[in-house]
Amino acid sequence: MLFPNGKKPEALIRRIIGMCTQPGDLVLDSFAGSGTTGAVAHKMGRRWIMVELGDHAKTHIVPRLQKVIDGTDKGGVTEATGWKGGGGYRFARLAPSLMEKDAWGNWVIRAEYNPAMLAEAMCKHFNYTYAPSTEHFWMHGHSSETSYIYVTTNSLTGAQLRALSDEVGEHRSLLICCSAYEEAGTSALSNLTIRKIPGAVLDRCEWGKDDYSLKISSLPMMQEEDEDDASPAVKRPGKADTTTGDLFADEAEG
Ligand SMILES: C[S@@+](CC[C@H](N)C(=O)[O-])C[C@H]1O[C@@H](n2cnc3c(N)ncnc32)[C@H](O)[C@@H]1O
Repeated sequence: MLFPNGKKPEALIRRIIGMCTQPGDLVLDSFAGSGTTGAVAHKMGRRWIMVELGDHAKTHIVPRLQKVIDGTDKGGVTEATGWKGGGGYRFARLAPSLMEKDAWGNWVIRAEYNPAMLAEAMCKHFNYTYAPSTEHFWMHGHSSETSYIYVTTNSLTGAQLRALSDEVGEHRSLLICCSAYEEAGTSALSNLTIRKIPGAVLDRCEWGKDDYSLKISSLPMMQEEDEDDASPAVKRPGKADTTTGDLFADEAEG
């Protein structure tokens, strides 16, 4: 079939979403276009994430989803799904890339990142919750009640690291992300883990690539549908799908 301007009918998207997801599942359309996938997923009781780089994210998708939520969108699969309206969504604008290459081709933290933005971004990359403390300058986030992260573009001396280690104490641990540090004697500071930025960020992500395609080969084993399922023979990832689960862990409440 040909789809003028790439736009798919809601009925087709409903069929696809119905075949491979359950109510409450997350549906991702990373090339949202006019937002058909999100509109249908919403009407079908699925949660959704849409990504769109064009202005039509605001001019088309937002008003369309607003109508779905208000219950004033009478078209598409509204009747077939019995959709009456409800729900909501969050609209987020992606931050600029954290890393860029300088005039010599070295990876550096982009100049427009201020200290707070950098600390928040590092927390995200290292799975810490960004929660800067007003009490301790080094508590930028935490991953448990006793492990914290401190992000600074300063170079830390041995004396500064020892002072930090004393303040953290033996019952807490601290991940320090800094631009450089004096290494002599740091191995004795067992409550500190010290990583240099931007190296620490480069270790965790790929940057500057044109193609960030999902590595399909690393997805978990597929399972056959239950025999009593009336839908066509479709396979979908098993429920113990940590690969995709982790990707969306932060957005699960959205
Ligand atoms: C044909 S539309 C997709 C329509 C919709 N997914 C559907 O199936 O009906 C493709 C959309 O992808 C968007 N797009 C292209 N590259 C993108 C990127 N790197 N990130 C986000 N959106 C992108 C384009 O702006 C365009 O609106």
